[in-house]
Order: sequence, then structure tokens, then C-alpha cells
Amino acid sequence: MPKTHTQFVCQQCGRISAREMGRCPQCGAWNSFVEEVIAPAQRPSKHTKGLSLTTSTPRRLIDIDAPQEDRLVLPLGEFARVLGGGIVPGSIILIGGDPGIGKSTLLLQVALEMARQEVVLYVSGEESERQIRMRAQRLLDGGADRGEEPARANLQGLYLVTETQLPQILEHITALQPRLLIVDSIQTTYLPELESTAGSVSQVRECASRLRELAKTSGITVFLIGHVTKEGTIAGPRVLEHIVDTVLYLEGDRFQSYRLLRSVKNRFGATSEVGVFEMGERGLVEVPNPSQAFLAERVVNAPGSAIAVTMEGTRPLLVEVQGLTSPTPFGNPRRTANGVDINRLLLICAVLTRRLGLRLSEQDVFVNVIGGLSVEEPAADLAIAAAIASSYRNRPVRADVVLIGEVGLSGELRMVGQIAARLREAAALGFQAAIVPRRLARSESYPNSIEVIEARSLQQALSAALAGEEAEHA
Ligand code: TYD
Ligand code: MG
Repeated sequence: MPKTHTQFVCQQCGRISAREMGRCPQCGAWNSFVEEVIAPAQRPSKHTKGLSLTTSTPRRLIDIDAPQEDRLVLPLGEFARVLGGGIVPGSIILIGGDPGIGKSTLLLQVALEMARQEVVLYVSGEESERQIRMRAQRLLDGGADRGEEPARANLQGLYLVTETQLPQILEHITALQPRLLIVDSIQTTYLPELESTAGSVSQVRECASRLRELAKTSGITVFLIGHVTKEGTIAGPRVLEHIVDTVLYLEGDRFQSYRLLRSVKNRFGATSEVGVFEMGERGLVEVPNPSQAFLAERVVNAPGSAIAVTMEGTRPLLVEVQGLTSPTPFGNPRRTANGVDINRLLLICAVLTRRLGLRLSEQDVFVNVIGGLSVEEPAADLAIAAAIASSYRNRPVRADVVLIGEVGLSGELRMVGQIAARLREAAALGFQAAIVPRRLARSESYPNSIEVIEARSLQQALSAALAGEEAEHA
């Protein structure tokens, strides 16, 4: 094999240099040099010339037959749903997430399921064979507890190797011919011919590109595990997003048991699809009815709690938002947001102060979303405001209502999308009423199964939501 030559290229302006530089002399960008492999120049031989002419010819779109994608069936239903209905052969899928969130566990579960029918190779650069074997045993015992057949004989198809050098990994693949490859993680995988260390941008990118080549030419499905680094971007899954077909993020609070698997890019399905799992003693278990799970511990009729309906992808999700106000001991009132954007909380506090006369400037305000979820949608504004107002006035929010709506700066309530889907989910979970923004155009009809209370302003909505409030503002 000829020696590979590399060069350093500024990722901002494209300046080429033989060595790494801290600052680009051309565009002035800092730390922008990334090592790249110099592709050997193609000598135009007669052979390649003929080849290139035949391989790419424009064809009529209609003449290209698109066979129905035969996806591999994945028994883990939530995972399959996020992927768009199963595993597409020859695709490359990145699973990102914080360390310790459960990426290795999830993919080992996938490997165990798939090994019943296919040959699966699990490459680990992070843990020893024994560790993985022990975890697999734990997961298999869990499957047995849930009444699945242990089927150890069916697991003959699962192979394990601890390896970090990509050329070695590729050799194993040639020898084993698996249908599914799992690389844990892309940050530990490296090419010896590159100077930079494993986990650097150039290594991660080059390794991922080669694995992509492999997937496209051989039809093997490749799963890559990628850690999100503290800085968020450096050598993390972000640099890979355009190389792979599908990007999934496993999210959740490490100290809570719920995990959300979210698709942020998918060439073979809908994006922003979400699957909900619970991390248990024996691996990740699907949560078939997440709204019910998130509301399980709710204390009905306690002040400071309100139910919001957010959309996670195409799926409505009911979550409990809690608020607490407490007199500020000295000076500066504090605002603490857990699971909601702090700027959103500041805005809602300001509206409550200015438009509704709540004296929050003398109060510390805490807001918490139950279940370790983070709610980014403005549709949860009304529930956040109600939770705070409910705590401040020490009056519970009606136990049987859900609150939907975005709060505007003048204290008005604004419409949000997919209102019918949200109302149907609330009705299905036994809620009697929903407080929603007054709509001007009747685009979607409301379901009959729930009483819909329309409110124009935050003021009106809170009057309807808080028990005993009517008298005050009537
Ligand atoms: P892991 O899959 O190693 O995380 P990652 O690969 O994303 O770094 O998961 C680690 C955590 O999951 C660890 O804190 C232990 C916990 N865990 C369980 O709670 N139950 C289980 O059955 C397993 C296998 C792990
Ligand atoms: Mg891991």
C-alpha cells in the first residue's frame, strides 16, 4: 500500500498548509486547520476513461426503478418508528448523546434482537469483551423476565471484537460479512495513517466517510455511536451529520429514568420523530404510553402544577409543569428553569408582572418539567404561566384541564399548531377540558370528546384555570 500523504486545510477559507497552524494567516480564523488525506491523483488511463463514461449517464427519472425498500424488521418498536419503520440496508446511522445516557445499552439491545436472524458485528473501542458480555447477560435476563424467549441458540449471529484501528475493523468485516455493524464509538476509531489523535475532527470525519463507503458498496447497515462533547461541536456528532443518512440523539436526564430517542435527520423517514424509553435494571424498555407515564406521580389539586401538551415530532405528549414562587430573602430575585428555556421563563414572568399585576419582583421563581423532559415549544407557555400564578396565589389549577397556548408580550394568548391532535391526546387520557387560544380562522375542528374553553388573553385563561379565580376578575 502506498504511503498516505496528508495536508492541513483551513475549514473556513480553504488555505492549504503542510503543518497545523493555530491561526489561519489568510482568513484569521482560529483553530480551523483540519488534517485531510490527499487523494492520489487519478491518472487518466484508457481503462478509467471508458469506465467513467459508462457509469454516469443521465437517465429519465421514470426509467429508474425504485424497488420497495425492503427494511429489516426490528422488534424494538419505538426504535423502528424513529428510524421510519425499520432498518434500511446499506444505510449509515449515527446515534449521539451524552456519555452514560445509554447509547451502548440501546445498540447492544438492537444487536441482540437482530442477531436472531442476521449476522451482527459489534465493534467496541470503549469497553472490554467481558464488560459487554456481562451487560448482554443483564439485557437477556431482562428479556426473559418480560416473557420473551431467551433463545440463546438464536444468538449465534452476534460477534464481538474490541478494536480501534479502522483497517483492522474493515478486515474483520470482510471475513465475517455481517448484515449489521455497530461501531462503539466513532471517537475511539482511528486511521493510523493520519497524524492526528483519535477523536479529532479529521479522524472522526475520515473514519466515518470510509464506513459510509463500506455501507453504500456492500449493503451493510452501519450504526455509529458518537459522544456529544462538552463543547457540543468539536469532533462530536455535529461534524458527521452530513456524512451519515440518519442522525438520532438519545436524550434525557441522567438522574431520571426516561430517555428520548429523537431523529434530527433522516433520509429514509420523517424527522423529529421521537421514541420514549425507560432505563431500568435490565436495559431500556419501551414506554408505549408516555403521557400516562409522565403524569403518573402527579398530585392532584396541589398549587403550582399545570399540564401542558407539547408536540414531540408528530406525537402529542402531556407533561406536568411545576412552578414555585418563594419570597426573595434579599435583593435580587432568582429565576431557575429546569426543562424550559430560561429566556422563555423570564418573558413569562415579565408578562405576569406587567399585565396581570403579580408582584414577582419580590419572588424567587422556580419552574420544573417533570420526567427530565425539556420543553422548547412556546405552546407550553400557558402551562408555565399557570403553574407560577397558581403557586403565587396558592390556588390549584383545575385538575381536569390541560393548558395550551403561546403567551405574547401584551399578555395575549396566541394559537399554536396541531391543536386537534393535542386535544385528542388530552381527551384520551381522561382530561375533561382544555384551555386554548381563541382562534380566528376555523381550520381544524375540535374533537367532541373534550370541552374546549377559548381564551383571548392570559388573564382570561388563568381565570378559567385557577379554582376560585372567577370571583376576583368577574
Ligand atoms: P451506557 O449504555 O454505557 O451509556 P453510553 O454508552 O451512552 O455512555 O449506559 C450507562 C448507564 O446505563 C449506566 O449508568 C448504567 C445504566 N444502565 C442501567 O441502568 N440499566 C441497565 O440495564 C444497563 C445495561 C445500564
Ligand atoms: Mg458507551
